[in-house]
Formats: sequence, structure tokens, C-alpha cells
Amino acid sequence: MTGPTSFNRRDAITTGLAGTALLAGGIAAPAVQASSPLPGDADASARRAVWLDADWRFHLGHASDQGRDFDFGRNQRTYAKPGRDTARAAMPEFDDRHWRAVQVPHDWAVELPFAEPAAAIAPDDYAPAAHGFKAIGRDWPEHSVGWYRRHLPVGPADRGRSVWIEFDGVFRDSIVFVNGYVAGGSESGYAPFRVDIGEFLDFDGGSNVLAVRVDASLGEGWFYEGAGIYRNVRLVSAAPCHIPQWGVCVRPRVTGGDAVVDVLTTVANAQEADASLTLRHGIVGPDGTPVGAPVEQPLALSGHATREVAAQIALAAPRLWHPDTPFLYRLRSAVLRDGAVVDEVETSFGVRTVHFDATTGFSINGKPLKLLGVCNHQDHAGVGSAIPDALHAWRVARSKEMGVNAWRSAHNPPSQALLDICDREGVMMIAETRRNSASSEAMAELDRMILSSRNHPSIILWSVGNEEPHQGTARGYRISRALAARCKQLDPTRQTTQAMDSGWDGGAADAVDVVGFNYRIDKIADWHRRHPDKPVIGSETGSTVATRGAYRNDPAGKIVRAYDTEHPWWASTAEAWWTIVDNSPYIAGGFIWTGFDYRGEPTPFTDFPAVSSYFGVMDLCGFPKDNYYYYRAWWRPEQPLVHLLPHWNWAGSEGEPIDVWVHGNCPEVELRLNGKSLGRKAMPRNGHLEWQVPYAPGRIEAVGIAQGRVVARDQRVTAAAPARLRLSTERRRLAADGRDVAMIRAEVTDRAGNLVPTADLPLNFTVSGPVRLIGVGNGNPTSLEPDKGHARRAFNGLAQAIVQSAGQPGLARLHVTAEGVAPASIDLNFHQGI
Ligand code: GAL
Repeated sequence: MTGPTSFNRRDAITTGLAGTALLAGGIAAPAVQASSPLPGDADASARRAVWLDADWRFHLGHASDQGRDFDFGRNQRTYAKPGRDTARAAMPEFDDRHWRAVQVPHDWAVELPFAEPAAAIAPDDYAPAAHGFKAIGRDWPEHSVGWYRRHLPVGPADRGRSVWIEFDGVFRDSIVFVNGYVAGGSESGYAPFRVDIGEFLDFDGGSNVLAVRVDASLGEGWFYEGAGIYRNVRLVSAAPCHIPQWGVCVRPRVTGGDAVVDVLTTVANAQEADASLTLRHGIVGPDGTPVGAPVEQPLALSGHATREVAAQIALAAPRLWHPDTPFLYRLRSAVLRDGAVVDEVETSFGVRTVHFDATTGFSINGKPLKLLGVCNHQDHAGVGSAIPDALHAWRVARSKEMGVNAWRSAHNPPSQALLDICDREGVMMIAETRRNSASSEAMAELDRMILSSRNHPSIILWSVGNEEPHQGTARGYRISRALAARCKQLDPTRQTTQAMDSGWDGGAADAVDVVGFNYRIDKIADWHRRHPDKPVIGSETGSTVATRGAYRNDPAGKIVRAYDTEHPWWASTAEAWWTIVDNSPYIAGGFIWTGFDYRGEPTPFTDFPAVSSYFGVMDLCGFPKDNYYYYRAWWRPEQPLVHLLPHWNWAGSEGEPIDVWVHGNCPEVELRLNGKSLGRKAMPRNGHLEWQVPYAPGRIEAVGIAQGRVVARDQRVTAAAPARLRLSTERRRLAADGRDVAMIRAEVTDRAGNLVPTADLPLNFTVSGPVRLIGVGNGNPTSLEPDKGHARRAFNGLAQAIVQSAGQPGLARLHVTAEGVAPASIDLNFHQGI
């Protein structure tokens, strides 16, 4: 661990009054400043926000052995004497030099061994199956508690200021210690929380230590949830008169061609003395220039008082936020004292109207638009739930390429990083609270979701539940009504929903504005006849199961073919649900279960070694399965597409019929084998085409034709033996900020450069330069290889490496080798200030 001066330039989000982006709840993209003053030099009035991502130390504790849990709870004295005896690892003087250095976001569960069940246990009765067979939970106390420690970059200049830490999510049941004092924490693994730490700090230049004990013995869901500080953390130091976290609420109202921005600002005076302040608001337009004149309001605040101040700001002819044009404005809110700015925050917002209608479905800015959605958990190959911001952006980009315009964060509040990206990229979000309960804890979690996220224009609905056991009952109604009422209280601008798989005639469905159907899309029409005034969405749709790149079912190998044919009893094919939704204007849209495969809840195979679900239109690495192209065809119909499946490497099946499918949106498709036409077929709307083709090696080609012209092509070539490796990535120019990430695709090809679609060579990755390899994956749902480390087999020709900036500028290189084939490398450029 580095010492108290570990605050480095790379850490700075904003420093000083001239700083740009700030604050959760619609944060503008953080600008890293090149010359941030160190603590001690800082202007005493400036707000300072620092990512706490680097320089953490980590060690597993123990859920039942006090000695191995650093004496946490020894003699039941954790809370007895504040600042003493809490736990050895919580104390500032504890020597953590032998602890592992880690970077946050961090998920320790992804590194745990798999817990293979004894054959005698039925898979459904084996709890770890839900969590991807990771050895975590009450049966593995030695793996279920994690300790984190870090020095805090605070110093003498922070004396007398308000200092707090913002956690965007810690899984779960966390206790936050500062200098040995219990300062706060969160039971929820998903709701963001803030911990005020000013009173526990030393300002004499000594060391200040943050320790976090995280207990993931219990789960909150039925899917892989990770463990640890898996979302961003930042430290904020603000003047005593300041705007607290989530203290700005921006609500633009469209009035004709103009808008009025209602702003509600919380201002706190954390000192004894009364203060005479001015609150100033200014709006910056999407092009970065100020819009209109700043609005100023005088404000007298007694000592230790907090006030909410309302303002209205006119916005003439705003550029509206829409998935195609996600224009963002920024509200700059400054607190002035004696004419000088003592605190300033920036809140990003968008101006748009959204509406759900029982007849016309969803509309935005007055025009109907089908919600083309995906449901996702926060989980990716290589990193588990600890998804760096740039990987969130990559996942959103891959989804948008398919045509996605909406995302349901299942079944928990989305991270602020994901919301910022959705705001910028025009992806609409259903944010869901984890607990459908009226308990004070569940209500507090809902509050934190809404207060942290209500400024994000991407959010179109608050979801208060998913397939709750009591969904169709009077009690289910009362619980959801309490949650929905709270949503309205905190955010009257948005409607509520609940995802249900039965009991839609009554119960929770009556408590929310928009009723969600999980699967059973074919039942919506009847229900709609009985409830013609109630808006409806497909909250979970599909879902087909598939192994990426596999085309023959093999139950013994736990492989499912990637045609749009295989689905569990409760689900449907892509074609079945999308055809219904597309033909039903009153259905607002649908959210595929799921966009990406995710660990845990192994389906359709429930037993080891199937460690992840097969539901994704993309695999765990984000490599598209074939259904991706079905959606891409019909969700972006203006872009001609043909996509051909399967691959064309069927040695040993010469002459045998192969099912050949074409997804696409061209009016006609011609299939050719080795140059010879196998016929032309008309593509049915929202359908696909099928041929049976006796296998002969060579080239099979699909040609998309519109008005007699070739507008799209796809082909599969019989590949020869693996001969080479190939690396590629979308971005080679990256930020040298210690956070940015490049997603590298590794392919096994033959000598001619054709992907070898069956290759499973063990690959070995090495890096040089200012990067670290933070994870590897291959999308195989039965792979038991480690996500961390340098080795991974290719799976059906592909693997993925995730590399992250190590914080310095310069040229970095990823190199991949495998026995018997030519290696490959790729160069990445890390720059300061991008
Ligand atoms: C739904 C549930 C999802 C997932 C899915 C699997 O019932 O909401 O979380 O379990 O089924 O099909």
C-alpha cells in the first residue's frame, strides 16, 4: 500500500473551481486533469473528487473463524468501543504489506474455484449452481468474506470540510471503517451508498486508512452476483457549504417547442456558523457553450442546516434527447459565498418526453417507437461483475450494433457508469430495484436507486419487482403499490412497471402503470382484451438457448445448436415473440432474455460443468451467436443484411444434408454452393430462410437481393487446419488513465486467413508496456479455465483478452501464441488526456 500522499494526478476527477464534471446522479464524463493540485496545496474552497480505483489491498477473511477474519467480532466487541477493537484489519496500523494489490472494480468470486457437487446431490438442490458453481456462500465461509484496505488521499487542506465516500455498489453486506471506526456500510449489494468520513480523519499529515469488510455469505439473486467492491468508488471533499451527493434534481418540462427546467437543489451548511450564500445555476448546451443567462438565488442557511431550493430555468428550443440524437445538456450549480464560488457540481440531463399508452405503445417526444430491448446482468468473461466503465461502453456498443435501443438492468439498479453511457449513446433503461418488499431496508434501497439515478434521461421506467412469489395476490398488490407510490413521490416524471410471469389479472399488475410480461408473449392479446386501458411491455422475451458457433445438439457435451429452435418450456424462439410484438402496436416493445450470457443459473443444462446460462444473443465474451443477426436484420431494417449459418467444416459428413439457415432482411436470397445456385427464396417478414444442403467442402454463399441488385452477401468457407492467430480490437487509441480498457478478439485461422470454426487450441497471452491483462474468456459455457491468468483455450475459433491501462502513456503490446501456429500481436497506444 502506498502512503498518505498516494493521491496522484491520474486519480483526479475534478480539482478546483474550474473543474468540469462532477457528482453522481447524471455525472458528466469525468475529465482527468493533468495538473491537479495535491492535498495541502489545494484551494481550501475547491471541491475535490477522486476515483478510489488504484492502490487497494485485498485479503479474504472468514465468515465463521474470528482468527482468520482478523479478529472481527472478537468477544462481540466490534461496536463496543468506537475506534478500538473493531478488527485488526480495520485499524490504521495494521500491516497489510502481504495483502494482494488490487484495482477496483474488483470481484473476488470470479477467481474462486468451482465447487463440483458430489454426484449424489441433485443439481436443483445444489445452491452454488445458481452462482455458476463458484465456491461461495454459507458452505464456504473461507471464501465468503473479503477485506479491502487503502490509504485515503486526504490531508491538512481537508480539515473543516465535508468529506465523504461514494460507493456505487459493493456485494454485499459491507462495513466501512475509517481509521478503525465503523463509519457506514450497506446491506444491499446493489444500491449505491455514501459514507461521511470527515469526523474520523486525522488532518495532521498522518495516514488515514479506509477498510471495508464485505460479506457475501448470502446472495440476493438466483444468478452469479460476484463479490466485493465491484463498482466505482470515489472520495469527495467539499467546502462546509456545499451540495451533497444526489443534491441536484433536474426535471425538464417540454412546453411546445421550448422547455422549462425545474431544478431542486439541496444545499447543506455543515459548520456551526450561519451562512449567507448564493446559489447559481447555468446551463451548458450539447455543443459545450452556455445557454441563456445564469440564474442566481440568495440563500440564508443556519449552522448545520440543510435546505432544498427550487428554481425554474427557461430553455428555448432545446435539442431533444432521443435514441438517434442523444443530446445532453449540463446544469452547473454553484454555491457562492461573499461572491466566491465555494462549491460547484455539474449534472448532465436530457430534454425529452416519454409516454406509455395502452393503444399506441411507447412514444418518445410524441412519436411512437418500439422498445428493442435486452435484459442483462452485470457479468462478463474475464472480470465477472467487476466491469470497468470502458467495458460497459463496449457492451452497449455491441448491443447497439444489433439494433438495441433499450436495456433492462435485471434485477437490480444499474451502475452509474452504465447509466452515463446509456445517456450518451441513446439507450433507454428500465432500472429495477432488487427487493420487492415494503420493509424499511427495501424502501431505502429503492430511494437510493431513484435519488442516484433520476437525472439520467436514459431511464424510462422504474421497475419495482420481477416474478415475485406474491405477484398475483392482494399482498403483492399492497407491496408493489407502496413501492410504486414511493417512486412517484421521489420522481413524479416517470412511470412504474413490474415484470411478471403469472397473475396479471389483479395483484401487482394493478399497482404499476405498465405491466410487464415475462415470456408468454402469446398470452398478451387475450389479456389486453380484458385490460384495454393498461400499457404493456414484454419485460423478458425469447429466449432461445444456444452455444456460440455450435450447430449440432450434444446433450452429453452440454452443447446446444445455435439455430433459433431451442428454448425452455416457458420461453419461445426469437422469431415467435418478435413477430407478435412487431405486429401489435399496443405492445410497447420487448426485452430479450438476455443480451449476453451470464454466469450461474445454468440453463438448459443445470448440472456441472455447465457453469453459465445459454440465453444470450451474445456469449459471455460478447461474441455474437447467430440469433444476433436475426435481431440485427429486423431491428435495423434500413441496413441490408444476410447472415448464413452454420460454418462449413463438416469433414466426415460429405453428402449428408446440412440445415442451412439465412437470417436477413433482403427481399430475396440466393444460396450458392461452390459457385452453383441452390435457388432463390423470398424472405418472409420477421422470418428466416432454410435450405437442406448435402455437404461438400468449399464455399457456401448467401446473396441478398433487392430490386434485382445484390445488396448484401455472406459466406462460409471450409477452413484448413489451424495455422495462424489473429488479434483485433475496436480501439487502439486509449486513455492512459489506469481505467480504460481494450477488448481484444483472438481468432484461430488457417493459412489463408479463414477462421477455423472448430479450433480449440490453448492460447497464451503476454503483455508488455503500460497495460495489465485483467481477464481472459472464450464464451464456452462449460469452460472451467480460470478467468485470470494468461492462458485460455480458443472456443469454436475465438477467445478474448481484456487489457487495461496501467496508468502511464506509451505503446503497449498484447502477444498471443499457441503451439504449432504462427503467433500474433497487436499494439495499443495509451495517451494522456483522452
Ligand atoms: C425469469 C427470471 C430471470 C431468469 C429467467 C430464466 O424467470 O426473471 O431472472 O431466471 O427467467 O429463464
